[in-house]
Amino acid sequence: MSGRVEGKICVITGAAGGLGLAMAHALGREGGTVVVTDIDAARGAGAEDELRQAGIAASFLSHDATSPEDWERIIAAVLQRHGRIDVLVNNAGGGLDMDIEAMDFAHYKKMIALNLDTAFLGNKYGVAAMKATGGSIINLSSVGGLIGTASLPAYSAAKGGVRLLTKCVAAHCGQRGYGIRVNSVHPGLIRTAAGVDVTKMATGLDEEHALAAFASLHPIGRVGWPEEIANGVLFLASDEASFMTGSELVIDGGYTAV
Ligand SMILES: NC(=O)c1ccc[n+]([C@@H]2O[C@H](COP(=O)([O-])OP(=O)(O)OC[C@H]3O[C@@H](n4cnc5c(N)ncnc54)[C@H](O)[C@@H]3O)[C@@H](O)[C@H]2O)c1
Repeated sequence: MSGRVEGKICVITGAAGGLGLAMAHALGREGGTVVVTDIDAARGAGAEDELRQAGIAASFLSHDATSPEDWERIIAAVLQRHGRIDVLVNNAGGGLDMDIEAMDFAHYKKMIALNLDTAFLGNKYGVAAMKATGGSIINLSSVGGLIGTASLPAYSAAKGGVRLLTKCVAAHCGQRGYGIRVNSVHPGLIRTAAGVDVTKMATGLDEEHALAAFASLHPIGRVGWPEEIANGVLFLASDEASFMTGSELVIDGGYTAV
């Protein structure tokens, strides 16, 4: 298949590397024009180069996705350059968590800002920008937004919030007839630098043994690859998912099945 998102203007936050960059490749390869944003301008410029070398129509915008002013600025820039936004992936997030006794309030608030405020702002400004033309908003949650883990209270509270924020915004867009579909994606452990850090911190082991320990938690017998999440995002971005809104796309190698 090719051209699955032909001509669509796709904005992906936190896409200088990791899952976001894999999504940018997948959407670009299928005909999308991609705008990658990230708080890390140096890595973002590198991502733009990499995408262009792969023949993808790509540009980078520096963006702190926790800042309303930054959202106003980047949405205005994309609308000025491309005229509309068809796909918005609220991907920026992550960070290392700790159990409820170890965590202080400041760290909790930082995790909520990075993982839930970013999604709130992305949906708020995304709906405003997309309501005249319609489109697809995709919010990165996690298996941590579906089930509890002793060491992830703030991350899971935020990602659980993303799950229900998604359903509320989907319902609102449906009621208003905006033609915007809104869905959440729930990855298991994926082999990005951030994903590997989580395994090392949770187990206290080196990379190889930490990944092996996490592989055993996924019935499929391994952790995931970024492209496996990008494929799900590509589907939700495309018109193939035209009857999906308010849904949870779980891509977790069976992690939450057992
Ligand atoms: N990797 C996994 O195992 C996994 C599993 C479940 C969910 N997720 C979620 O997928 C998303 C991407 O994860 P990843 O593994 O690629 O992480 P990553 O750390 O590799 O990428 C996150 C990107 O976000 C950027 N970023 C950080 N703060 C930002 C901000 N305030 N504004 C804009 N950009 C900012 C970082 O610079 C980085 O490039 C996150 O929301 C994460 O919670 C990841």
